[in-house]
Amino acid sequence: MSHPPEALAGRGALVTGASGGIGLAISHALVQAGARVLMVARGVERLAPAAAAAGGTAIAGDVADAGEVERLRQRAVAELGTVPDIVVSAAGAFDLAPVATTPIEAFDRMLAVNLRAPFLLARAFLPGMLKRGSGHLVTIGSVAGRTAFPHNGAYSASKFGVRGLHAVLDAELRGSGVRATLVEPGATDTPLWDSVDRSRHPGLPPREAMLSVQAVADAVLFALTRPPDVDVRTLLLERT
Ligand SMILES: NC(=O)c1ccc[n+]([C@@H]2O[C@H](COP(=O)([O-])OP(=O)(O)OC[C@H]3O[C@@H](n4cnc5c(N)ncnc54)[C@H](OP(=O)(O)O)[C@@H]3O)[C@@H](O)[C@H]2O)c1
Repeated sequence: MSHPPEALAGRGALVTGASGGIGLAISHALVQAGARVLMVARGVERLAPAAAAAGGTAIAGDVADAGEVERLRQRAVAELGTVPDIVVSAAGAFDLAPVATTPIEAFDRMLAVNLRAPFLLARAFLPGMLKRGSGHLVTIGSVAGRTAFPHNGAYSASKFGVRGLHAVLDAELRGSGVRATLVEPGATDTPLWDSVDRSRHPGLPPREAMLSVQAVADAVLFALTRPPDVDVRTLLLERT
C-alpha cells in the first residue's frame, strides 16, 4: 500500500519492540512517512544498529517495568518537546506449551510484556494526550486474542486481555480527540519464530506462508493516516 511520503511529517512517535520483527518494520514505515521515531527495546546491541538503519532514535528500556515506562515517558517528552502523537505497543513475548506444563515464569512473562506493558504505556501517555486533545495509541494484538489455538494458553490469555483493554480504552476515549487502534495479525514471519521447535508443533504454517512484517506495518500506517474524523478501531489481518 502506498501513502503520501510525508503523511506523518512533524509527528513524534514512540514504538516499542522496535529492534526487530514487526516493531522495526513499523518504525521504518513511520520514519518513511516523515515522523520522528523513538525506538524502544531492552537489548541495545540489537536496537542501536536497527535504529541507525531505520532512521529512528534508540532508547533502551523494559516496557514491562512501571519505573522504566515512567522514565521512557520523561525521555520521550524531553526528546520531542511534548507527549508523542503516536505510541505503538509492539513489544511481545511468545512461547508455546500445553497449559498443563506451561512454566509459571513463562505465563507471567507473556502477561507482563503483552498485556501489562500496553497498560503501563497507555497509563503513562494518555494524560498528556488527553490534555492536548490529540494522540493515537496503536497496540499489536494477535488472532490468538480472539481464536483458541492449542499450546497458546499464556499467549492467548495475554492477547485476549489486550483486546479487552483496547475495548475499554475505545469506550473511554470516544470524543476525546485521542484514538486507539488494535491491529491483530495472524502468524507473521519474524524472529519470534526462531526459537520455536517446529517438530513439537507440526500444525504451524511454514514461515514463507506467514504474513510479512511489511503487511502489518502498512496496516498500522493506514490507521495512523486516516483523517481525524475516522477512527480505525480494529484491524484483523490474515494471510490469504
Ligand atoms: N510474529 C507473529 O507471528 C505475530 C503474530 C501476531 C502478533 N504478533 C505480535 O506482534 C508483536 C511483535 O512481535 P514480533 O513477531 O515482531 O516479535 P519479535 O520479532 O520477537 O520482536 C519482539 C520485540 O520486542 C522487544 N521486547 C521484548 N520484551 C520487551 C520488553 N520487556 N521491553 C521492551 N521491549 C521488549 C524485543 O527486543 P528485546 O528482546 O531486546 O527487548 C524485540 O524488539 C508482539 O506483540 C507479538 O505478540 C506477532
